[in-house]
Amino acid sequence: MIKIKTEKEVELIRQACLVAVKVLGQLKECLRAGISTAELDIEAERLFKELGATSAFRGYHGYPANICASINEEVVHGIPGPRRLKEGDIISMDVGAKLKGYFGDVAWTFPVGQISENASKLLQTAQEALTCGINQARENNHLLDISSAIQSCVECSGYSVVRKFVGHGIGSKMHEEPEIPNFGVPGAGPVLKSGMVLAIEPMVNEGDFAVEILEDKWTAVTKDGRLAAHFEHTICVTEDGPEILTAWG
Ligand code: MF3
Ligand code: CO
Repeated sequence: MIKIKTEKEVELIRQACLVAVKVLGQLKECLRAGISTAELDIEAERLFKELGATSAFRGYHGYPANICASINEEVVHGIPGPRRLKEGDIISMDVGAKLKGYFGDVAWTFPVGQISENASKLLQTAQEALTCGINQARENNHLLDISSAIQSCVECSGYSVVRKFVGHGIGSKMHEEPEIPNFGVPGAGPVLKSGMVLAIEPMVNEGDFAVEILEDKWTAVTKDGRLAAHFEHTICVTEDGPEILTAWG
């Protein structure tokens, strides 16, 4: 069952999303060669506190940090730690906020200084895939219209979509129904209705879609060691089309 949110609930989710984008925006300003992901996590914790919110991730199934920070071949769920950014790296930061019992979820992949043309094309495609997916989040479309739009965008550019992780409904829990795969056939899955709130999050690999989980039990890396990118927005389906609740920049 996919919950239809009331306007009041959407407003609360919107506020949580605003916190998430504020934190992400501030963390982006901290990015430079030499900073460690643990330092970014400390800054995130400070920002959540300042905004009267908490991390949606900390403690979730035992997750030990405030944000996910995934560098280069790390796809998602990178646990912040001593790894330091280098010029030319790409880093995905995933920020989930909890405010007044509601959740907002956003992720973005950023360049660190000057990056290769390959890396830059990967980021561009993954971001485009998110936009293509969001454009399908319309009343009376099917859920997998989103999935298939993402997959086409990615595969047409010669990249692959990760199968192991999916997007999700979001609201008074971080993960609600439905699961939103980043691959699938158009016309399949439940029909979308106004008031559904979805976190759409394509994970795009430069090479093969296979991933493996490191010994820390969280960090997902590409099996072939090549780059990966991850972009996520929380959106609401409305009569006037998708509203991006985590719009920023
Ligand atoms: N954006 C990711 C998700 O929606 C982040 C989850 S990290 C976790 O699944 F630690 F909370 F699991
Ligand atoms: Co998410």
